[in-house]
Amino acid sequence: MKEQLAQIKQQAMEALQQAQTPAQLEELRVRFLGKKGALTAVLKQMGKLSPEERPVMGQLANAVRAEIEEMLEKQKAAAHAAALEAKLAAEALDVTIPGKSVALGHAHPMNQVLQQIKDLFVGMGYQIVDGPEVELADYNFTKLNIEEGHPSRDRSDTFYFNDDDTVLLRTQTSPMQIRVMENAKPPICILAPGRVYRKDEADATHSPMFHQIEGLVIDEHITMGDLKGALVTLMKKLYGEEAVMRFRPHHFPFTEPSCEMDMQCHKCHGTGEVDGQVCSTCHGEGWIELLGAGMVHPKVLEGCGIDPEKYSGFAFGMGLERMAMRRTRINDLRLIFDNDVRFLNQF
Ligand code: PHE
Repeated sequence: MKEQLAQIKQQAMEALQQAQTPAQLEELRVRFLGKKGALTAVLKQMGKLSPEERPVMGQLANAVRAEIEEMLEKQKAAAHAAALEAKLAAEALDVTIPGKSVALGHAHPMNQVLQQIKDLFVGMGYQIVDGPEVELADYNFTKLNIEEGHPSRDRSDTFYFNDDDTVLLRTQTSPMQIRVMENAKPPICILAPGRVYRKDEADATHSPMFHQIEGLVIDEHITMGDLKGALVTLMKKLYGEEAVMRFRPHHFPFTEPSCEMDMQCHKCHGTGEVDGQVCSTCHGEGWIELLGAGMVHPKVLEGCGIDPEKYSGFAFGMGLERMAMRRTRINDLRLIFDNDVRFLNQF
């Protein structure tokens, strides 16, 4: 019996040493310590022993059981640790692998130019204001001294919302002049960028939606000199000190006198020719039209409750896309709205 116990112990220890998984260990526990296991089988023979031998064998059997149990626990812990280690190794993150780069966008080239223009005017003391794109004909036309029947009010040029032509998509940012003057007292110094709409087919230089930037300055003693100063400053900042400007008489119903400002063509330097060919940038004109401007008409001031005897002011309106095209040297307006990232990524 003593030999049997010693043998069980030896077999159990060897088997336990080699077991690696919790399942294998459980199998060995049943085999050696279970109800039908090897040790139990030996203990069942205790009855055959003499009364003196029984406690000795009993003690020995218990000692073997304890040793096997201890080894079993030790191996279980080892198997558990090994399993955990394997799991961790399998799940390990390699923090040295370069990450997937996130493509960061940037401001649209048109908005880059808008931001630059806004910054320049804010630097000159202008306040940026915003207004409705769905506008009353009263503000878009009538209060700007554009009478009923004026060709610019025609249904073929303007998107109207109703049959009596009282509500429309603004065709210019000039109604912002009225909205500001009706609500503020001079001195007034604002810049109003925004979308405008006209019934134009889209081509290289036209789009049914485009952007304008309106400027308005009203105070005592404001003259055409102030207008020229502000606009020439802007253009030289945008296009460089060497940029050459000219002011040409024009007509707008809401300014008197009115003018347009042109910039000398940077390609042909005003000659209208490049290598004996008609300049493609200015179409041989030598100048490129940039904006409309003028001194606010006394009738418009009066209509907004501002005394034209005391106050005067200037207004200007420029096309943002045109400015952006000149800055970025692109020749087709549609590129600005297509949102083709191959184009946009160049800026
Ligand atoms: N609103 C005019 C246009 O769209 C431009 C303009 C603005 C002219 C302000 C004079 C003063 O053509």
